[in-house]
Amino acid sequence: MSESNSNNITIERKHSHVEICLHGDVAFNRKTTGFERFDFEHNALPEICFSDIDLSTTFLDKKISAPLMISSMTGGYSEAAALNRHLAEAAEHFRIPLGVGSMRQVLENSSYRESFAIVRKYAPSVQIFANIGAPEIAKGLTDTEISTMLELLQADGLIVHLNAAQEIFQPEGNTDFRHVLEQLSIITAKIPIPVIVKEVGCGISASAALRLIEAGVKVIDVAGAGGISWQKVEEIRYTRQFGQETRFSTPALEELLNWGIPTAQCLLDISALRKEHSAFKTIEIIASGGIQCGTDIAKSLALGAQIAASARCMLKALHQGVLKETIATWLNDLRTVMFLTGSANIEQLRNTSLIIKQ
Ligand SMILES: Cc1cc2nc3c(=O)[nH]c(=O)nc-3n(C[C@H](O)[C@H](O)[C@H](O)COP(=O)(O)O)c2cc1C
Repeated sequence: MSESNSNNITIERKHSHVEICLHGDVAFNRKTTGFERFDFEHNALPEICFSDIDLSTTFLDKKISAPLMISSMTGGYSEAAALNRHLAEAAEHFRIPLGVGSMRQVLENSSYRESFAIVRKYAPSVQIFANIGAPEIAKGLTDTEISTMLELLQADGLIVHLNAAQEIFQPEGNTDFRHVLEQLSIITAKIPIPVIVKEVGCGISASAALRLIEAGVKVIDVAGAGGISWQKVEEIRYTRQFGQETRFSTPALEELLNWGIPTAQCLLDISALRKEHSAFKTIEIIASGGIQCGTDIAKSLALGAQIAASARCMLKALHQGVLKETIATWLNDLRTVMFLTGSANIEQLRNTSLIIKQ
């Protein structure tokens, strides 16, 4: 494939991802995040004042104002600059971290770099994370490629996304996932900033998390099932290109479109590792995949996450012109749960037990 052809496909893909995530039927329909399985115990004697509740916490040793991150989404085409600018303004306003979308475009071509660089301009004081996919990692990134991505953002860390199911469904998907772990070990040893590994909606199991930690990864973002199905997003792109060409049998297709480990299950399984593996004690977990309100954030923290993160709800709110209002509402939900559980701060909320509903 010529360089310009591959560049056009990358631009079309990032553009249509946003459009399909905004307007397409891409939610899991046979699976939920699992948060509805849990309840907090009501505390009739909170003994705290609502207005004194402190939402601040730390993420990778930096103080942040609330346990929420805007997940990696976009960059690398003309309209992405405006989206990233608004996401960055919101992150700066709330003093919360932000990830950018895959920077594969930056490695393929020097156009649209501003659509990534703009994030640092509008979010000068918060943590910003670069992003690249497993298939690019597997090929082996050069030192120049890594420093190009990190310097463009003055990044605080590098996010690597694992998206095997997405690549299988993607019309132009790259399904060679050999050497990802080996290359991750090389990168974590080489770069002076933390490496975060995330899924994109199929979740990370405890056994995969263990292998990632052994490779030097500092943060696991579970990005579990129950929110958006990237298999569905790519299936829409596939049928637009090739019509209803059959690749899977009908019952298998339904199951594969709903493939993945629910977000709450990932959190339970990965945080259980802390008891058995000392290396896990310093690892931070991000809860993402279908987070849609402040009570989901609260349950995530009680299930062991350091912070929660959201992509599609943030994008939809931005599209409707209510991004800052939505984040403020989620933080008010969170504060309300903290009040009703008697948690004056995030550490106390993390130590609150959840009841498993029968
Ligand atoms: C429009 C859009 C584009 C995305 N692009 C990327 C990407 O480039 N890199 C990445 O790691 N994740 C990407 N994601 C996945 C999200 O970061 C997140 O892991 C996933 O959507 C699950 O979270 P959610 O249910 O809150 O959307 C994208 C999500 C959206 C909505």
